[in-house]
This record gives sequence, C-alpha cells and structure tokens, in this order.
Amino acid sequence: MLFRLLVLSIVIGEVLGEYKNYDGFKILEVNFENPRVKKYVQEFDKNLGFMPDFLGENWKKKQAHYFINKDSVEKVKTNLVANNITYQMRDVNPQIFKVRRRRDLNGAITINDINNRYLSYDEQMQFLNSISQQYPNDVKLQKLGNSFEGRSITAVRIGDDGSNKPIVWIDAGIHAREWISYNVALYLIYTIVSQPAYRDLLNSVQLVVVPNTNPDGYEFSRTVDRMWRKTRSRFTNSRCGGADANRNYPFFWGTQGVSHSQCSEVYCGARPQSEPEVLALTNAIQREETRIKGYIALHSYGQEILYPWGHTQRTYPSDVEDLIKVGRAMASAIQAVNNTEYNVVNSGDGLYPAAGASDDWAKSRGIKYSYTIELSPIDDYIGFSLPEDRINQVCREAFQAIQVLMIEVKSKF
Ligand code: ARG
Ligand code: ZN
Repeated sequence: MLFRLLVLSIVIGEVLGEYKNYDGFKILEVNFENPRVKKYVQEFDKNLGFMPDFLGENWKKKQAHYFINKDSVEKVKTNLVANNITYQMRDVNPQIFKVRRRRDLNGAITINDINNRYLSYDEQMQFLNSISQQYPNDVKLQKLGNSFEGRSITAVRIGDDGSNKPIVWIDAGIHAREWISYNVALYLIYTIVSQPAYRDLLNSVQLVVVPNTNPDGYEFSRTVDRMWRKTRSRFTNSRCGGADANRNYPFFWGTQGVSHSQCSEVYCGARPQSEPEVLALTNAIQREETRIKGYIALHSYGQEILYPWGHTQRTYPSDVEDLIKVGRAMASAIQAVNNTEYNVVNSGDGLYPAAGASDDWAKSRGIKYSYTIELSPIDDYIGFSLPEDRINQVCREAFQAIQVLMIEVKSKF
C-alpha cells in the first residue's frame, strides 16, 4: 500500500509538483571589462564573506552573471555600493521554472525527442538502448560505474573495432542544471552512426561519449530544484549535500576557485575523486588514456571554447598554440552553421581559475586536445533553460565542432 502511494505520488509529482521556489532571488550582472570590477569579483569571497553562485558570462557584453540568494540581496547591494561598483540586479525569468513536462509514456524515444525536448534520465537510457540495438556493430554501451544514488554512468563506444585507433572522448552534464549538454551528446551519438558520410572518419577515429555524467543531479534538477549543479552525495551531520564534480578531479585539487564548505555550489568534496561519478570517469579514462587524443566536457552557458590550464591564471601548456588553433577551427565550424559566435579563451584567465576540473585533469594525463565547451545561450535571462525550440540548432553547431576535433585527431595521430 505504502509502495503504491509512493508510486502514485511520483507519477502525480511529474505532472503537478513544483520546483523549489526562487522568489526574491536575483541575477547580478556586472561589467568585468572595468579592471576595478574584475578585481572586485575575483575577491568576492573576501568582499562578501562567501562566493556567490557564478552562472555564466556574456563575453560580447562583458557581463558576468551571479545568482543571488534572496537573503543576501541587500547585503550584496550594500557591499557593491560601498565599493563603488556599478551593477544591475535583475529578476529571474519566471519562465525557466516552468519547463517541467509529463513523462511521455507512449512510444520509443527517437531523434525527434532529442531535437525537441529535454528528456528524463530513463528516457536518455531508453534512447541509448534502442540505438545500440539498431546499430549493434557501431554502438556499444559500457557501464563505467554507478552514481551515488545508484544510477548507471554509461559510456557509448562508437566505432570500437578492437583496433588501436585514437579516441576522442566527449562527456556531458557534470553540472546538472546545464540541460542542453545532454541533448548535444545524444544528438552526436545518433548523427555520427546514422549518417553514412561519417563512416570514413569512424574508421580512423573512435568516439567515446558519456552523455550523462551526473544522472542524480540531473534528475534532481528536473524534478525538485531547477538550479541544482552538484552531485547528490549525502554527508553525515551536514544540512547540505552534493559536491561540484568539476572541482573533484585529482589535479591541483582544492587549491583555487573552490570551496571546502559543503553548502557551497563549488564544494570540491572531501578529497579528490570522493564523488563516485568522478571516480568512475577517471578510472575509465585512465584505462585507455594513451589512446585518447581529444577530450571535450560539454557545459552551458556562455558560447565559449575553453582550453587549459584552468586551475590558475596565466599558465599554459607547452603546446598551447595547437590548442588555440584547433579551438579556433572549432569556433569557425560552429559559426558557419548559423553565425553563432563562440569565444576561444584560456579557462583560467577569465574571471576565476578553478582547480580540480575535468579538462585540466585530462590534459595532465597527456590528452593533447582538452577543452570545456560552454554551449548556448549567451544570455542570462535564458541561462540554463535554453528554450526547447533552440535545442536542435545548438546540437548541429556543437556537432560541427566535434567533427573538427575528430578530423584533427585523425590527421595527427
Ligand atoms: N564553468 C566551468 C566550471 O566552473 C568552467 C571550467 C573551466 N575549466 C577550468 N579548469 N577552470 O566548472
Ligand atoms: Zn558547467
């Protein structure tokens, strides 16, 4: 009986349940072109006593966006005024909390769904299963491990013929609220196996795609708290849970741009690889790291292609020119689709360095071309909730960038 009640409430919850309420929260916009402002936000921690949740930036307008808790709005305003910082406080777009939808119970998940709506984790898995059945020679599903709550972290191996060809590794959605990244990864899988034009490329380069690296966080973001970013690990004697998995990788872990407080959005975890998701991903990559020549972590938002190092500022790998060159080629390929502009920048030199991120760790393991891509949009009013009618274009653009990287890897290795 209890079980039936539970099931019933979950089903109803899908339809009627409400997101965590963010009334009174604000988006803070500041212009970081002004060196005084830049210095101020880089010392947010010192100025305010806490690090506000960084959402993204609009590099065209030179604006950085932060999510301000309603209880902190007055304090932040006072501090900005005292420091003579020009700013804007915007209301949060109410629309972004209204994108929940009923689970589609009839029929298989097809590419139409990927192109037109955000899927549940179960639907994503259904899609992967049906693709692997449809293309059994090209697509193999590999379980890398389990999330904290026991969901499978699944890698999709494409063009794995047992040979030693170089690998491009793509993973998506380590930050739960960055929904567009999941669709981009699924679109990539479908497109590259279903279109004969990519046969040739797949004959010389293998692709490994992990379309959902943080399934617990994603389900939580879909059903409870739209702004959830972290994993869902629980800690004893703490009112806050979850760690920022992109601060949990074992390279300069815990140094800059992180928090050691469990309630922070950038909590780096108790130790490197404390998050089972990160442990599964690092183990899997290390098993074949000598073959992996390209790595992309898909995030949103901001329309940026970021290259290492990102754990500190003004420090670059010795082959940084190659990273910039291929980064720019990816940006051009994106722009050729519909004139969308992506900025190619070093990940540490912007507003904040951040240590323990996957791109730096991948680079440190010898993976030559390692990037983080911040997908569309660029506009904070939309932010993580890219309208569903724009999903397809972002997928097509990112696909072009990934193809550029694969072609580069094919020609170099
Ligand atoms: N927005 C991403 C994050 O905060 C950027 C990570 C870039 N990479 C880096 N090593 N800092 O996780
Ligand atoms: Zn992110």
